[in-house]
Amino acid sequence: MTSTFVAAGPFAGQKPGTSGLRKKTAEFMRPGYLECFVQAVFDAIGGVSGKVLVLGGDGRYFGRQAAETILRMAAAGGAARVIVGRGAILSTPAASHLIRLNAADGGLILSASHNPGGPDGDFGVKYNIANGGPAPEAVTAAIHAATERVTGYHIAGAPAPDLDRIGESRLDGMVVQVVDPVTDYAALMERLVDFDAIRALVAGGFRMRFDAMSAVTGPYAVEILEHRIGFAPGTVVNAVPEPDFGGHHPDPNPAHARDLWDELMGPDAPDFGAASDGDGDRNMILGRGVYVSPSDSLAVIAANAHLCKGYAGGIRGIARSMPTSAAADRVAAHLGVDLHETPTGWKFFGTLLDAGRATICGEESFGTGSDHVREKDGLWAVLIWLNILAARGKGVAEVLDGHWRQFGRNYYSRHDYEALPVAAAEAVMAGLRAALPGLPGRVVAGMTVTAADDFAYRDPVDGSSSAGQGLRVAFEGGARIVLRLSGTGTEGATLRLYLDRMEDDPDRMAQDPQEALAPLIAAAEDLAGIARLTGRAVPDVIT
Ligand code: G6P
Ligand code: ZN
Repeated sequence: MTSTFVAAGPFAGQKPGTSGLRKKTAEFMRPGYLECFVQAVFDAIGGVSGKVLVLGGDGRYFGRQAAETILRMAAAGGAARVIVGRGAILSTPAASHLIRLNAADGGLILSASHNPGGPDGDFGVKYNIANGGPAPEAVTAAIHAATERVTGYHIAGAPAPDLDRIGESRLDGMVVQVVDPVTDYAALMERLVDFDAIRALVAGGFRMRFDAMSAVTGPYAVEILEHRIGFAPGTVVNAVPEPDFGGHHPDPNPAHARDLWDELMGPDAPDFGAASDGDGDRNMILGRGVYVSPSDSLAVIAANAHLCKGYAGGIRGIARSMPTSAAADRVAAHLGVDLHETPTGWKFFGTLLDAGRATICGEESFGTGSDHVREKDGLWAVLIWLNILAARGKGVAEVLDGHWRQFGRNYYSRHDYEALPVAAAEAVMAGLRAALPGLPGRVVAGMTVTAADDFAYRDPVDGSSSAGQGLRVAFEGGARIVLRLSGTGTEGATLRLYLDRMEDDPDRMAQDPQEALAPLIAAAEDLAGIARLTGRAVPDVIT
């Protein structure tokens, strides 16, 4: 069989954001749209001739069809082998692991993460490099440039093989290797986490609920939590991945994982609750009656990692995104390891992990992970928490409370204003950006500003620079606000306001975060005027 060149494109706006290219599904399904983007990826990485790639996604609508197209394009490009998850399914962390395990040249992940799926939802394509992590900015910039030059795409005439059958077959000269999506990932978890300790917990009557949100983690969680560890059948709910995620918004946060939240806050709550997102890289951790903010989860995991099998030798460093709270900073200081503050986006952790300068990473956006893969990993975080609870013989509330007493508590919250008109969101950013130089020394809502800047990052490993990564204003005593525009939305602009204040008085650690942060919220309105400029009185999402 031969391949053909189909003239198409270029399509405007194929610029990868925080995490790959995300668009409305209908846009991705326009004739030639997916193909031109994938061709641009291939062009930008110097072609795929002789290369080994990993391919899979979160099972959302259009995923299988896209995978078949990409296989035919990889064959036309002369790729040696593509390793693809059965049914075109791979969670993002499992894809990252497969790239590393097979020393592949890279991979394509078909997902729009936590964004809703289906014909009216979102679709996405992300390219990961040979270390298993998201392409760094130099590569995404090259991909974007290639999308503007593309004049069509090469595609094999032969059809893609049956992706439901495990095993190897050939598509022209290329080997297509369909693998079980769970097996290798589950083996990795078993090496990092003490399953026996968790089994003992289960035997003692410990109960949990995991909400897979009708997305990709269902099969992973059922195999690991129920089959291998022995949690009761039914512990994993919404366990079957649906093309439209059952109509839900698969984002594990207090707003979108409401059923789980209500159950954990209710009278018959199990000991532990957790959820993951569409593609399995995010997590939310709950205990009976308690919510662990992602920033606190990072700090607790870093402080207790040595209790888990894979980290018994201690950790080498912690990295967090800039808007994430400073809770992990004090853990790093206590452990005597470096703390790296990076821009938002998991891709910025890659060089630090590769260089062995960070072991544990985390973001306020419900992402935690380690150097075991180059993506954040939802199920890993859940298993690490279980390992910590088992090793400490304590519940979530006790562990969290003890952590705050030792390190202090960072009251933290994020307020999101979604689908704003782009001009209004940009006006808010421009107004605050212009005011930054005059802020130090000024008193706002009773607090004195100590520093204000637009965050710029220089990667200490490869020296690359990234400017314009978020506006931050710090106040006396270490409180701060951060304002930035989301890089993952597909509708209008999403403005994120991050609020962080440390409390070290043990008698004041049980406040409602929104109350504890009220002065900062007032200061943010004074400084940025979100309500005034957008007409939105309250945020759409509060985490
Ligand atoms: C994705 C990325 C994260 C990022 C998050 C929020 O999950 O993988 O690294 O923190 O999106 O990004 P955003 O630009 O929407 O704030
Ligand atoms: Zn995700």
